[in-house]
Amino acid sequence: MAELRSAEWYSGDVRNAYIHRAWMRRGLPDSAFTDRPHIAIANTASDLTPCNSHFDEIATSVKQGVYEAGGIPLNLPVMSLGETLVRPTAMLWRNLAAMSIEEMLRANPVDGVVLLGGCDKTIPALLMAAASVDIPAVVVPGGPMLTGHFRGAPLGCGTDVWRLSEEVRAGTLSEKLFLQSESSMIRSRGHCNTMGTASTMACMAEALGMTIPGTAGTPAPDSRLLERSHATGRLAVDLVREGRRPSTVLTRESFLNAIVALAAIGGSTNAVVHLLAIAGRLGVDLSLDDFDRVGANVPLLVDLQPAGRYLMEDLHRAGGLLAVLREVRDLLDPQASTVTGAPLVEHLDDARIWDETVIRPRGNPLLDGAGIAVLRGNLAPDGAVIKPAAASPELLRHRGRAVVFDSIEDLHARLDDPALEVDETSVLVLRGCGPKGYPGMPEVGNMPLPEKLLAKGVRDMVRISDARMSGTAYGTVVLHVAPEAAAGGVLGLVRTGDPVVLDVPGRRLELDVDPAELSRRKGSPEASAAFAAPVRGWERLYVEHVMQADKGADLDFLVGSSGDRVSRESH
Ligand code: FES
Ligand code: MG
Repeated sequence: MAELRSAEWYSGDVRNAYIHRAWMRRGLPDSAFTDRPHIAIANTASDLTPCNSHFDEIATSVKQGVYEAGGIPLNLPVMSLGETLVRPTAMLWRNLAAMSIEEMLRANPVDGVVLLGGCDKTIPALLMAAASVDIPAVVVPGGPMLTGHFRGAPLGCGTDVWRLSEEVRAGTLSEKLFLQSESSMIRSRGHCNTMGTASTMACMAEALGMTIPGTAGTPAPDSRLLERSHATGRLAVDLVREGRRPSTVLTRESFLNAIVALAAIGGSTNAVVHLLAIAGRLGVDLSLDDFDRVGANVPLLVDLQPAGRYLMEDLHRAGGLLAVLREVRDLLDPQASTVTGAPLVEHLDDARIWDETVIRPRGNPLLDGAGIAVLRGNLAPDGAVIKPAAASPELLRHRGRAVVFDSIEDLHARLDDPALEVDETSVLVLRGCGPKGYPGMPEVGNMPLPEKLLAKGVRDMVRISDARMSGTAYGTVVLHVAPEAAAGGVLGLVRTGDPVVLDVPGRRLELDVDPAELSRRKGSPEASAAFAAPVRGWERLYVEHVMQADKGADLDFLVGSSGDRVSRESH
């Protein structure tokens, strides 16, 4: 083993080493300071991130594993982000969380890190941080909730909130029953149990090679998660001894494997921005088009909400991510490595499907070519995305008249107005909701449908925005339009009544308006009025530096890595 990074603090008989050791001697023996890897447990537990509130128990198992392998475990509480509570959107702080975690890992005497993440933004932020420090790192995903039931039917977190609330608006479910379902929605500890962003990013961490294979998707209350956590603590010590760093695991090949996995599980569109941001930290050349090109041949095998029927507990029972990946093994890069030191594909030998209704065998997919489609055209020169698996097939080729909303408040104020000129062929357009515009690119892209159309039985319409949508949502929703309206995108020039063309098979998104007319609109006052730049604080820094969705919405100055260099002394 090479000299430990922590030895820069602890070794020698000089005054400063004395200081560092003396203050850490609260139960640590002499041997703690010689040749024993110091492993931080970057813990996103918080009572305000209910999906991660059980992480201290996981951390305890990790600690025991670290000790057992001869390391020193150190709990490091880090910035946490709760998807449901934080306003205006947890995404506004993903990069701040990543930056603060990166800085604390580098500033402290740690040799390796175990990353405890769950709720949507926490795993992406942790991976971005670990990539930019590039010390040995491994993820323990905190696991999904158990399935809750209401009146005999399972409830999918997130997805069924959207569905039931639309039923109330359509008049097919009473308000009373809707409110009764609330206490059944969240049955246990853990993150959302649909294939939303949290479940997706746990699977992405595993497909990238950053978990012990077979861990992702283990339900939060399942005792096997603690056994895995213990093993992960042990592994973290080995990673340091072997010098296996994120940059050796997170190669372009690993990202392409993650894209295959994303398509096969029908994962969240949010994974696109997160994977692009993580790749950016490593200098891995990954583009929006890779998602379309690589995902295009991958079949959808997992029948989970929001696109399908089942929930994460079912996926785990049916064999989990490894069983899914075994079916598409030929599409995976055989070289892409994992934290275990062995390639991902070598971990698939023992995987089996135990329930073919939940995980379809390759020969009987739910859908061929399930990957996220990347659309381009004058409305999205830098790209936009749509998840065909969650869309209505008959709307994938559509021409309709735009009904434009300038903000989410504008939408809420006018959507249900009986006088609003809208029918089921209209295209709902929402702007001002991109990274700069909101700011933070919230999950509002899955706009609700006008009440009068719901009452007629309409359940899907083409919707287009510069926002993201919740991984638990569904519909024919075009997202991440780049450049966004607030960055001067053509989206800002659309007017109600303009014809819009969506052609998913042709990968096109066009505003059918004369270019001369569009240039005229560019100079109009309404084109620039929508965006008021924040004057101070994080929001200002964010808006000044955030990149567009096609670049992962990271801050421009956070792209890349500063490595694990040890800074000058503090005393
Ligand atoms: Fe935390 Fe869905 S709200 S994972
Ligand atoms: Mg979310």
